[in-house]
Amino acid sequence: MTQAYQTGIIPEASSDALFITFNLVRDRIAQAKHALASSTDIVHDIAQQFPDAALYASIGLNHAIWPLFDNTKKPQGLAPFPHFKNQQIEVNETAGELVFHIRSMRRDVSYQLANALFQAFDKSLELVEEVSCFKYLDNRDLTGFVDGTENPEGEKRKQVALVGAEDPDFEGGSYLNLMRFVHDLDKWEHQDLKSQEDIYGRTKYSNEEYAASQKSPHAHTKRTSLKDSNGQSLEILRHSMPFASLTEKGLMFASYSKTPNIFNQMLESMVKGDEQGHYDHLMRFTTAHTGNAFFIPATRWFTTLLD
Ligand code: HEM
Repeated sequence: MTQAYQTGIIPEASSDALFITFNLVRDRIAQAKHALASSTDIVHDIAQQFPDAALYASIGLNHAIWPLFDNTKKPQGLAPFPHFKNQQIEVNETAGELVFHIRSMRRDVSYQLANALFQAFDKSLELVEEVSCFKYLDNRDLTGFVDGTENPEGEKRKQVALVGAEDPDFEGGSYLNLMRFVHDLDKWEHQDLKSQEDIYGRTKYSNEEYAASQKSPHAHTKRTSLKDSNGQSLEILRHSMPFASLTEKGLMFASYSKTPNIFNQMLESMVKGDEQGHYDHLMRFTTAHTGNAFFIPATRWFTTLLD
């Protein structure tokens, strides 16, 4: 039976999201453990208080702090964020040991939950980064293209995102990958429409996929549509959302998967490219400022923390 999974993973896109990363203060682990043990109840209580907000959240830990909370067992795939580079691009792990991914239809309610969780941790967390994201038009990235179209649908979302019987101690958990991309929109907007569409392998306004034969080997959707050795599509569940100030604009990329290997393979395909070195040309217009890999345990794990 699938364990109860955290609410931030499966539901369809929200209109508002907060991605908040922290480091753990090492001499306050006992405090952090108490807070983690009560965190899924805090999420539940505030979600119940504001049913119209459709408030969802995921709380997760990275490889560096996992053993400080649970030294008996570890999720099979929990590992550092990968390092890939070509002549132009480099992606790497950056700071951030614990994450809150909070999303809802109401910014005020997202704020309330973030604040309540942060207070529960008292001084056991040090803020690394807080990114406030919004739904832009009809779920478009700030480059103007609809993002999330090819996400899995219905029951398939759970099959793609949740750990199953292959790791029985961690069934119902999920691997979350985060990357904060900052776009060079001046450079992007100097490209004509056809060049922009070729870079994605999709049309901009009508959001149609190019025929496979029309896609450049550099197209983003070419580089990220991967298959396993049996010809089955490798999939992740994306919850990326834009963020923007007047001076910095970009995308908080977020994906959930039952194994981090699929995300890692996609990122490698984007950065290193195929055998001929055809890398993802979307990366000429955006820069990854962060890279984080977390495990989002099923809710049961939190309740066993104080046993
Ligand atoms: C597809 C945007 C980074 C994985 C797409 C699409 C857009 C998009 C507009 C087409 C519509 C859709 O199916 O969602 C972006 C932007 C990124 C970014 C703006 C960064 C600035 C990434 C990264 C990964 C990724 C880092 C994974 C490592 C995918 C996948 C698809 C996709 C799997 C679907 C491909 C298909 O089956 O057609 N992305 N993306 N994306 N992206 Fe990204």
